[in-house]
This record gives sequence, C-alpha cells and structure tokens, in this order.
Amino acid sequence: VAFAPNLSTAVSLVAWGLPFHQRDLVLTIDQEFPSNVYPWRAVATAKNLRLETFTSRPDLSIDWDHFLTRIRPGIRAVVLSWVQYKAGTTAPLHEISAACRRVGAWLIVDAIQGLGVMPFDLVASGADVICGGTHKWLCGFTGQAFMAFRDDLFLEMTPVIAGARTYGGPEVKVTADKEPVATASRFEAGSATHLASIPVAASVEVLIRHGIPEIGRVSGELADRLRRGIHGKGYTILGDQPGTPTSPLVCFRDGLLRDLSEKLTEHRVSHVLREHGLRLSPHAFNTTAEVDQVLALIPPRG
Ligand SMILES: Cc1ncc(COP(=O)(O)O)c(C=O)c1O
Repeated sequence: VAFAPNLSTAVSLVAWGLPFHQRDLVLTIDQEFPSNVYPWRAVATAKNLRLETFTSRPDLSIDWDHFLTRIRPGIRAVVLSWVQYKAGTTAPLHEISAACRRVGAWLIVDAIQGLGVMPFDLVASGADVICGGTHKWLCGFTGQAFMAFRDDLFLEMTPVIAGARTYGGPEVKVTADKEPVATASRFEAGSATHLASIPVAASVEVLIRHGIPEIGRVSGELADRLRRGIHGKGYTILGDQPGTPTSPLVCFRDGLLRDLSEKLTEHRVSHVLREHGLRLSPHAFNTTAEVDQVLALIPPRG
C-alpha cells in the first residue's frame, strides 16, 4: 500500500508509472469520475496510447456481458470504478479480472465508492491495483488516498514523482545509481499527510469493530428500502435495479428534482443533485426511521 494526498494523484502515479508501449489499448467506461479520466487521457496523449470508452445504458446500468467481450487481445489495461459514483453501478470484478488475465491486461480499479461499506478482498477481486480515498464511506477527511497492489506490479512501475522516501528516506546516502525501494513506498516521495490520517484511523477502527459484512448488510437493506420506496413513487431508479446485489448508492431521476433537493436541504438530508439525477447514500449509521423520514419528503410523481 502507498498513500497519496488524493485519488487523482494515486491514479496519476499508476497511469504514468505503468510500462505501457505506444499504441497499447486502455479500456474504460463512459461514467468514470473525472479523477479517473483525466490522468489516463494525459498519459494516453503523452505515450501515444489508445483509449477506448465503453458506453453505459441510458439508465447508467452497464451491460457487463458486453463489456467482458471487449476485453480482448491487444487490451493492455482495463480501468474502471468498482462502484460508479453516479448511480452506484457495481462492477463484477472477479469476472473482469479473469478476462483481463486471459488477455494479459492489467486491471486498475477506483474503489473509493465501495471501500468501507461493502466487503472487499483485494486478492479475490483479482484487481492488479486499486486506488481509494478516505472521504467517502471510510468516513475520513479529504486529503488522504492510497493505492494497493495485489501483487508486486509496482516493481515494474516507475515512480514519476521522486523524493527522499522513493529511495528509502532522508538518511539513505544519495548516490547516482540508487534504485527506488522495492516496496510500494517508492510512490510516497515525501512526508506523509498525517493530519488527514488521524480521523480516518479512528473511523476505520469503528468500521472494523462492527465488521464490513455487517455494515454492508445494514446499509444495503436501508438502500433497498429507499430504492423500493422511491421506485413505488414513480421515479426511475438509475444504475443497478432493486433486488440486485449492489452498493448503497441510490440515484433516481424524473420529477421536480431541484425542488426536492431544496426540500431535502431544508430538512438537513445530505444528498447530491447532478444533471443525471439525485443521489442518496445511506450508511450503516443511518436508521430505518431516517429512511422513512426521507421517503416521506419525496412526493409521488403525478
Ligand atoms: C469514483 C470517485 N473517484 C474519485 C473521487 C475523488 O477523487 P479525488 O480524491 O481526486 O478528489 C470521487 C469523489 O470524490 C469519486 O466518487
């Protein structure tokens, strides 16, 4: 594991560090968060890679069977979010990583929208690298992100930002032929952002004490209750549909969402309104009564 100040930096370190060759194909998805788009665009331009973007369905769900057929010889890296930020669409990482292995592609995953609320096993997922950050379900502050490697791919990667810690720390004698350290710390060039680690260390302790499977169960039930209630009021649920194993991100559209957003703000209900829909994100510390309060604020569509 290596820490970074934000996910953009972590993804950039991965994208710039991988040993790509000219014309290598990188497959990604059209609804990625910008921090997982621009680093790849920059590297694709600089290294003359080809970026191929898979198109989601209009409701932001993804035809994974079709996606898997696009992982073919010639693809060098597959870059996607485990859980998409727009509507919580959740990728079947196990199948995707198996397809990547068959064609010799790396699987690079932005896992920020699932870590802390859904069980995740890096080895079982088969992802080569995951990038994450602490200010979502891990309940930390912004300013702390990380990358984690399933295996030792980092040994083949160049640390594009170099500092004392890339080479073992300030006490290690500077020589002309020094090699970067043989751990993921080669990507932590300088001093760490300790201030951002303190709150997330406390919240991770709480998450571990309760257990992520239990947190996933509780938040999943709350999200499903929300989804069913909102669907029953005539709105269109985006992303994965009710009843499928998915993240607790609930996103819907149609109706007077701007008015609804103002009402939710007035009642101090955290949410996000974007052009594609309104998103709610119940965590395990929320209660059924709170979900019902939110549902009561949402008018049925006429
Ligand atoms: C999927 C996803 N990736 C990354 C980020 C954050 O990126 P950064 O740490 O670069 O701001 C977010 C949201 O903050 C996100 O939803």
